[in-house]
Amino acid sequence: MLGKILAIDDEIDMLSLLKRIIEGKTDYEVTVTPEPKRAIRLIQDTYFDLVLLDLKMPGMSGMEVLRKIKEIEPDTAVIIITAYGTIESAVEAMKIGAIDFITKPFKPEQILLTIQRTMDLQKLKRENKALKEELAKEKEADFIIGKSKVMQSIYRYILQVAKTSATVVISGESGTGKELVARALHHHSLRSSKPFVPVNCSAIPETLIESEFFGHVRGAFSGAIRDKIGLVEEANGGTLFLDEVSDLNLLMQTKLLRFLQDGEFRPVGSTKNKRADIRIIAATNRDLLELVKQGRFREDLYYRLNVISIHLPPLRDRREDIPILAHYFLEKYAKANKKSVKGFSQAAMSKLITRDWSGNIRELQNVIERAVIICQGEYIQASEIDPLTSLQSESSKEIWDIPLKKAKRRILVDFYHQYLTYVLRQCKGNVSEAAKICGVKRQYLHRLMKIANLKSSSFRE
Ligand SMILES: Nc1ncnc2c1ncn2[C@@H]1O[C@H](COP(=O)(O)OP(=O)(O)OP(=O)(O)O)[C@@H](O)[C@H]1O
Ligand SMILES: [Mg+2]
Repeated sequence: MLGKILAIDDEIDMLSLLKRIIEGKTDYEVTVTPEPKRAIRLIQDTYFDLVLLDLKMPGMSGMEVLRKIKEIEPDTAVIIITAYGTIESAVEAMKIGAIDFITKPFKPEQILLTIQRTMDLQKLKRENKALKEELAKEKEADFIIGKSKVMQSIYRYILQVAKTSATVVISGESGTGKELVARALHHHSLRSSKPFVPVNCSAIPETLIESEFFGHVRGAFSGAIRDKIGLVEEANGGTLFLDEVSDLNLLMQTKLLRFLQDGEFRPVGSTKNKRADIRIIAATNRDLLELVKQGRFREDLYYRLNVISIHLPPLRDRREDIPILAHYFLEKYAKANKKSVKGFSQAAMSKLITRDWSGNIRELQNVIERAVIICQGEYIQASEIDPLTSLQSESSKEIWDIPLKKAKRRILVDFYHQYLTYVLRQCKGNVSEAAKICGVKRQYLHRLMKIANLKSSSFRE
């Protein structure tokens, strides 16, 4: 992955020198600005791995900028560059969170070395963070909740087939738990100590897909400056999860089939084949067989993948699972938000059970998360379940008999009240933060709060 660097210095010459040195010798992308205020805006909009910061600038001091950067994006590394760099100011900067400093004038090799060291560290940190997130997901792997007959038999089936190396196709609408099932299969397999590598086949551009899967060697194409390991090799010994497999193009389908047949693949630009031992689990929310009939999915690949198939029914076809799932999510979000919500009122539960749930379990999870956040008492009320949709039905009774302008205002006031209550609860009455979430200016938010009769102090804890 390329890295992004931002250089801030009031001397334009220094900026162009830095850009030339770094872009000439590395593949990092360098953005420069002499304007501290603009730099802050850039950092708010884009993630930079590293900021090179001049300590002495007119307008805003380097220390101030450093503090701001650490506030906005603590993960961004900052290297101080200064001509007036006394040890004291450098030490102070390091206390605030700068990772290193360098004094002007400097030799190109010297600054490149410092940059490279920092960028390597950043990469390591990023990988560790990803690993931690991955681990948290692994731990969740087994929490497949559901007491319906169909979920029980799916769970038994998972335990039965997990230990084999057979490929599996998991089908089901969006949000039905396909990835969760894939993780559970990996978790219960003999490969569980090896990686589980998820790939969203629809998210990779066609031109990169072969190299993403199989890797490439240096010089394979312009931009391939070093050898790169592909996902297949990364997953070696473990499981490769092909999400949205129907989105693979026909050429990639052919290459994947070849790999599945003999366990060998060839990195782009290489002359040698490599081997990898992986189990493939594929997921789709389309009817693969129908795509086969239309000539958009290879029939031989379909049969090669579909050794075992698991179909997850939509939530509306297993409504008996809704109460237990709702409680599971309630506990999870009550804990996460430190709220003592104990359960659902009867009306709330029947609303949950009868709702459409076109977004399936993911939608249920989101609705419960919001309900927990806005819940005022110990039990979630029907009006707290998806307040914005209930708004129409609840106010609609009275609005038909009043003039349009008044009706519109009533709906709007209701809407502001519920929307802002939700946002303000999230940020505990901090209006600046709430304005940021809403994407409006603070003053405007204050005006809306007045219309909705809300006070920020009622949200402080
Ligand atoms: N049976 C279940 N028990 C508990 N949580 C579940 C269950 N099924 C799904 N979830 C949760 O619902 C969310 C959506 O599930 P998942 O990502 O596995 O769905 P998906 O079928 O892969 O969706 P998509 O097709 O949109 O990618 C996840 O947060 C998952 O943990
Ligand atoms: Mg998914």
